[in-house]
Amino acid sequence: MSKVIAMSGKGGVGKTTVSALVVRYFMSRKNDPLLAIDADPNSNLGETLGLKIEKTVGDIRENFMKDPQGVPSGMDKILYLEMLMNQVLIEQKAFDLLVMGRQEGQGCYCMVNNILNRFAEELEGNYKYLLVDNEAGMEHLSRRTSGKVDILLMVTDYSLRGLRAVGRINEMLGDLKLSVKHKGLIVNRAPKNLSKAFLDEVESIGVPILCIIPDDNNLLEFDMERRSLLELEDDSPAVVAINQMMEKIKKIID
Ligand SMILES: Nc1ncnc2c1ncn2[C@@H]1O[C@H](COP(=O)(O)OP(=O)(O)O)[C@@H](O)[C@H]1O
Ligand SMILES: [Mg+2]
Repeated sequence: MSKVIAMSGKGGVGKTTVSALVVRYFMSRKNDPLLAIDADPNSNLGETLGLKIEKTVGDIRENFMKDPQGVPSGMDKILYLEMLMNQVLIEQKAFDLLVMGRQEGQGCYCMVNNILNRFAEELEGNYKYLLVDNEAGMEHLSRRTSGKVDILLMVTDYSLRGLRAVGRINEMLGDLKLSVKHKGLIVNRAPKNLSKAFLDEVESIGVPILCIIPDDNNLLEFDMERRSLLELEDDSPAVVAINQMMEKIKKIID
């Protein structure tokens, strides 16, 4: 079964940035098939990877629901959806990307949702690693039938507010039908020394710090120039931090 690495944390703390750098890590390692899933409708993982996203799984569902009779004649509905689904998958040399897009619309989408989710899960079986960039509520993860997460990366910025959001997510995990094997905290945009107040709050949440990422000016520059984070230099501070983290993670989940 593929190993699932998933992101959580409130908006703006760096989940997508971390996701892109995890993809970059896998790219530099080659031969470990990775499927990245952008499960945040307001997100832009594809963009940060330098890809142009034309269609999402949500678009397939919308179009299908708008015109359920639009299935080409003689074609089975399920085969048709599967064909559309394959068009959404973006295949790169070192990784593939699936963009979920908007998840729900009006009316009952159960049937199409079930079919599409089943395809997604079948597809996932082809990869050794799965990386899921989530929205704060992690709806995508809780919809998965297996519900297994090998490591949940909980991202916070250097603020007590960010940490408390992590604390709330941590408490909410019990209500989701998820089996989370490991959890690790990522402190993003951190100063050299973390304050005692911050560390006390980390301690009270009880999720160990797995990675500390400093402010990285290259990220700002790449964002402004719309450059792919895959092109960041090996010695960029955020890249160094994530690569070290990934070596640890592979020891934990492999
Ligand atoms: N370590 C960092 N140093 C500098 N800028 C960062 C860092 N981490 C994230 N950012 C910037 O913060 C913004 C929000 O990050 P993003 O990854 O999109 O957050 P999220 O996915 O959690 O909403 C982006 O513009 C990103 O470039
Ligand atoms: Mg994001």
